Amino acid sequence: MNRQAMKEAFIQQFGGSSESIRCFYAPGRVNLIGEHTDYNGGYVFPAALTFGTTMLIRPRSDREIRLASGNFELQGTIDLDRAEYVKEEEWINYPKGILVHLQKNGYTFGGYDVYYYGNIPNGAGLSSSASLQLVTAFGFMSMEGHPIDRVELALVAQRSENEFLGVKCGIMDQFTVAMGKRDHALLLKCNTLDYEPVPFDSRGYKLVIGNTNKRRGLVDSEYNMRRSQCEQAAQELRAKHPGLQLLGELDLDQFEDSQSCIKEETVRKRAQHVIEENDRVLKSVEALKKNDLPEFGRLMTASHDSLRDLYEVTCRELDVMVEEALQVDGVLGSRMTGAGFGGCTVSLVREDAVDAFIRQVGTAYQDKTGLQADFYVASIGDGVSELADCYIN
Ligand code: GLA
Repeated sequence: MNRQAMKEAFIQQFGGSSESIRCFYAPGRVNLIGEHTDYNGGYVFPAALTFGTTMLIRPRSDREIRLASGNFELQGTIDLDRAEYVKEEEWINYPKGILVHLQKNGYTFGGYDVYYYGNIPNGAGLSSSASLQLVTAFGFMSMEGHPIDRVELALVAQRSENEFLGVKCGIMDQFTVAMGKRDHALLLKCNTLDYEPVPFDSRGYKLVIGNTNKRRGLVDSEYNMRRSQCEQAAQELRAKHPGLQLLGELDLDQFEDSQSCIKEETVRKRAQHVIEENDRVLKSVEALKKNDLPEFGRLMTASHDSLRDLYEVTCRELDVMVEEALQVDGVLGSRMTGAGFGGCTVSLVREDAVDAFIRQVGTAYQDKTGLQADFYVASIGDGVSELADCYIN
């Protein structure tokens, strides 16, 4: 749906004229390396994409907030004085949670008509939900003329996901969608929120995202379980490291010396993944700065192996797609991206091999899984913004 079509859909939905409609946009994200490290206070290295969620918004004269979307049949209204999570309201809970948590930070809102359209595949691990959250937060704050602190908005969105929606996610997705920078990946230390945009000049190589189109089952409960296993590991490691808050504070040597404090083998494996993955992020950024893309690719693949064997968040479809990707000439590395259990892979592919990659991986993947994959050649875009050319008349 282009912006003209969106505007027409808006008017059809809410009536009135298009004067005073404003337009906001937030991207999705792909994580290049550093998976399941964020809620452990570790490093991540994600980038914002050039596809995302667009939001048209127009003030109303009453206090009602009316929401509709070009992606979902379901429409909704939000009463800010009595807003709570309602399972049947599906996607409406995302903007609702954002407004509830912005109110908790002291911001007030009037009534609005709002229309969304997004082109991030849902449930694919490319952060369609963080995109919806951030476009809402940024758009509503801008409409009200409230001061905008992007990091605050990211934290509000994370809190909403944790408390309003019940998923104990880390800060990576919301931070990337808020702070993304064109042609740069963000090296983010998740316990301090210190970050560095690193130019992702993948000379002659492309990031290719492969969507397994495997619906992610049980992701929320498995995700929350991984998180509590990490907390348990940190708790047991305190026997040797009394001040330890989060696993991400330990380096490889410290972990090596104290891992015997962790009683259960599964919990120890989870912790080992986190400690080693953290180290891989720093090494991969170093490799990138030296323009050593083969090393960057090797680290990506090592990350996948660890997510499969130690953290156990891949699934057959993700593993098949990565294995097939690594068979293609011109591929430097490949891994799952996001929470796992389905969703997408990301591969570093020589530019002139991209077509062959899509053909070859697509065919082999379908033969082995019976599912049809989708591929997107990724470009790295900016974080959430207002689209200035979209004051629609
Ligand atoms: C999801 C969460 C993130 C992060 C990743 C795994 O995308 O929302 O906070 O934990 O999984 O790295």
